[in-house]
Amino acid sequence: MAALLKLPNRGRLVLLCLLLAALWEAGDGQMRYSVPEELEKGSFVGNIAKDLGLDPQDLTERGVRIVSRGRTQLFALNPRSGSLVTAGRIDREELCAQSARCLVNFNILLEDKLSIYSVEVEITDINDNAPRFGVEELELKISETTTPGFRIPLKSAHDADVGENTLQKYELNSNDHFSLDVRRGMDGNKYPELVLERSLDREEEAVHHLILVALDGGDPIRSGTSRIRVVVQDVNDNAPVFTQPEYRVSVPENMPVGTQILKVTATDADEGYNAQVAYFLEKNPEETSEIFELKSTSGEITITKSLDYEDAKFHEIDIEAQDGPGLLSRTKVIVTVLDVNDNAPEFYMTSATSSVPEDSPPGTIIALFNVHDRDSGQNAFITCSLPENLPFKLERSVDNYHRLVTTRVLDREQFSSYNITVTAKDGGNPSLSTDAHILLQVADINDNPPTFPHTSYSAYIPENNLRGASIFSMMAYDPDSDDNAHVTYNLAEDTLQGAPLSSYISINSDTGVLYALRSFDYEQFRELQLYVTARDSGNPPLSSNVSLSLFVLDQNDNAPEILYPALPTDGSTGVELAPRSAEPGYLVTKVVAVDRDSGQNAWLSYHLLKASEPGLFAVGLHTGEVRTSTGPAGQRCAQAEPGGGGAGPWAAPSLCHCHAHGSRG
Ligand SMILES: *[C@@H]1O[C@H](CO)[C@@H](O)[C@H](O)[C@H]1NC(C)=O
Ligand SMILES: *[C@@H]1O[C@H](CO)[C@@H](O)[C@H](O)[C@H]1NC(C)=O
Repeated sequence: MAALLKLPNRGRLVLLCLLLAALWEAGDGQMRYSVPEELEKGSFVGNIAKDLGLDPQDLTERGVRIVSRGRTQLFALNPRSGSLVTAGRIDREELCAQSARCLVNFNILLEDKLSIYSVEVEITDINDNAPRFGVEELELKISETTTPGFRIPLKSAHDADVGENTLQKYELNSNDHFSLDVRRGMDGNKYPELVLERSLDREEEAVHHLILVALDGGDPIRSGTSRIRVVVQDVNDNAPVFTQPEYRVSVPENMPVGTQILKVTATDADEGYNAQVAYFLEKNPEETSEIFELKSTSGEITITKSLDYEDAKFHEIDIEAQDGPGLLSRTKVIVTVLDVNDNAPEFYMTSATSSVPEDSPPGTIIALFNVHDRDSGQNAFITCSLPENLPFKLERSVDNYHRLVTTRVLDREQFSSYNITVTAKDGGNPSLSTDAHILLQVADINDNPPTFPHTSYSAYIPENNLRGASIFSMMAYDPDSDDNAHVTYNLAEDTLQGAPLSSYISINSDTGVLYALRSFDYEQFRELQLYVTARDSGNPPLSSNVSLSLFVLDQNDNAPEILYPALPTDGSTGVELAPRSAEPGYLVTKVVAVDRDSGQNAWLSYHLLKASEPGLFAVGLHTGEVRTSTGPAGQRCAQAEPGGGGAGPWAAPSLCHCHAHGSRG
């Protein structure tokens, strides 16, 4: 009470009022009202006038008013109706927070009597607040290896309302992995917890979206939601996986070095470093690692060395994929090398004759050879051919063996050797071919006799030739070779006028030149029929005959011979008688002469050599008739004697010496 005493006067008045109020409360009880929160301003709370036992109009008259201590007046009096009304919107949560009951106390003062009344108004809750989460979106990180049963506390929600209107329960959307458990804390609050029900797999689902709903019990029910993102954290629980258990690729063998032939890909379901895949060639006993290069980061396989189908038809490459921490997986790449026509056919001569006799029958085997192509299939399908118009053909035998055989009898004299080009061509596109040359000599057979250019010959030789003079030259030709073409000449045996022909004529057996062994006399024989044989040196030898007509030519080697008048043997001159009275031209006699030569050499002319009475007789130039002349004939006879003319030294008849004169050819 000491404190009270020290209060100033005004303070004392207030204290008094409080005291009075207390007394009134204790005495008369209180006026109690209840009003829901959040009503419009001026909403009816209670009928004060009636409860005070006053008429509504008395309220103003008697100075009824609300007294409160300093704080904002929540209520007001309506002087006309005498009602207690709300002075504004009232928020229970603002006034009373979570308190179960929200009471507002104030006093009503009747000024005229200084009476004071206590009023208590309960503000009742309405469900004007929904449960709210502190964070509307929550992110949780859970490793994918977390075992089921693991609990994760979640942020709880708050509802400012009270009683049924406040938070009642939590609900979790249905999902495969999580359930919700709500624990009641010591403070009576509900704390939601997430329980892992089933193992997580990041690779299956990396993020789980959950919706946690907090519900109150109001009418209508209000709710608040929190979205929860559960991010599953990766663990390297997956090895890389190749897109194919085995890769197959076909590559033509001529693919240039550096070409990429394939790209292997392995994917790792993990993430980040756990999914960082690198590729490696596995060490291989085969030397594929020298032929192929693998890019460790991309899995691209390129050729580093030329492929050769003929070396290896396929390659196997073992490849490992490794993720960052080192989990492995393997695959196999089978590279099939495709044949390209890069090999020409090859010849293997099994046997070959270098020479064949020209009379070999058709079908004679010249060579046996094999052709081979290192390629395969059509690229190794070989056809062999020969140039046209050769007397040979190819016979195909087993296993690409071929025989070269003759198709007809050969003739060395036509073709003495052959350079036979055999072409082997494969079936590739473009095709490749190889030529082989088989040299064949055609061996000579004595199948040709020596022949003379003409069937018969004529030769001429003047008589009185020198002995040993060459008369003629004969030449036979033999198209064979060597001994078969070595010709010797012979004269066929014969006789001439009882003597062997060989005593007249000889032939040089090597040169075919004919020689005269005697001096021929035309007057003895004029013509010689010879047969010359040309014979080669083959075995057996072949020969041919030719005839030669040798004509001896006349020379003027015989003087005319006077047959009549015969030269007297007693030394006297011959006498011809002619009558003195003979007419001019009277035939006295006829001189008859012969010449053993022929032709001009035997053509005679007659001349008077000497006459005792010149001009009396004349001789016919060609007839040899001696006649009496009249003049000129006698003179001609005398003139025609210049000195004998080399004629025989015989005496002319006494009347006229005559001379028979042979003309010289
Ligand atoms: C055969 O003929 C071919 C082509 O025509 C040629 O190259 C080769 O030298 C010839 N061989 C002989 C020995 O003449
Ligand atoms: C050549 O002539 C001789 C003798 O006259 C004869 O025996 C031979 O048969 C002839 N030969 C030919 C090839 O005519």
